Amino acid sequence: MTDERPQGLLISPIRSGTVIDHITAGQALNVLRILGITGTTAESVSVATNVASGLVGKKDIVKIENRELRKEEVDRIALIAPNATINIIREFVVAEKKGVETPAELSGVVRCPNPGCISNTAEPARSRFIVTPNGLRCHYCDWLVTKEIAEHIL
Ligand SMILES: Nc1ncnc2c1ncn2[C@@H]1O[C@H](COP(=O)(O)OP(=O)(O)OP(=O)(O)O)[C@@H](O)[C@H]1O
Ligand SMILES: [Mg+2]
Ligand SMILES: [Zn+2]
Repeated sequence: MTDERPQGLLISPIRSGTVIDHITAGQALNVLRILGITGTTAESVSVATNVASGLVGKKDIVKIENRELRKEEVDRIALIAPNATINIIREFVVAEKKGVETPAELSGVVRCPNPGCISNTAEPARSRFIVTPNGLRCHYCDWLVTKEIAEHIL
């Protein structure tokens, strides 16, 4: 029986750039937003969402040509995808691989949801959050951000 299904990869390998692998399923578009990727730039970007990972479970993947990530970008990605792996691609192969790490404190990364917080006033103090097991706690007003962190990322 002949298999008539289309063959081959839809996504071409990149020569140089970054593959963000093991992104929490459903977070790929938030990762793109953190990186400021709107789809109008010249480099090629591939996004896969809800692909099988291991025996059970799903993940998202983002592949970006000709781009290496800054630490501030990786810190933001860690907030929404704590298991992400950053692979640096050079000459088509993985030249470097590292995990992401959530820093103990976040400065200028997340906006405090409390409108009365000093970090949201006319002359705002730089936002500052302490990372706790229960969520992100505002250094100024103690507001606890526990969910939809992606929506508060600056
Ligand atoms: N040249 C390339 N272009 C695009 N994607 C690539 C390229 N090389 C590797 N990748 C992708 O980068 C990711 C990491 O590649 P690697 O070969 O290290 O896989 P792995 O052994 O499964 O890694 P891990 O142990 O981190 O899961 C994979 O998603 C792979 O498809
Ligand atoms: Mg793998
Ligand atoms: Zn606050």
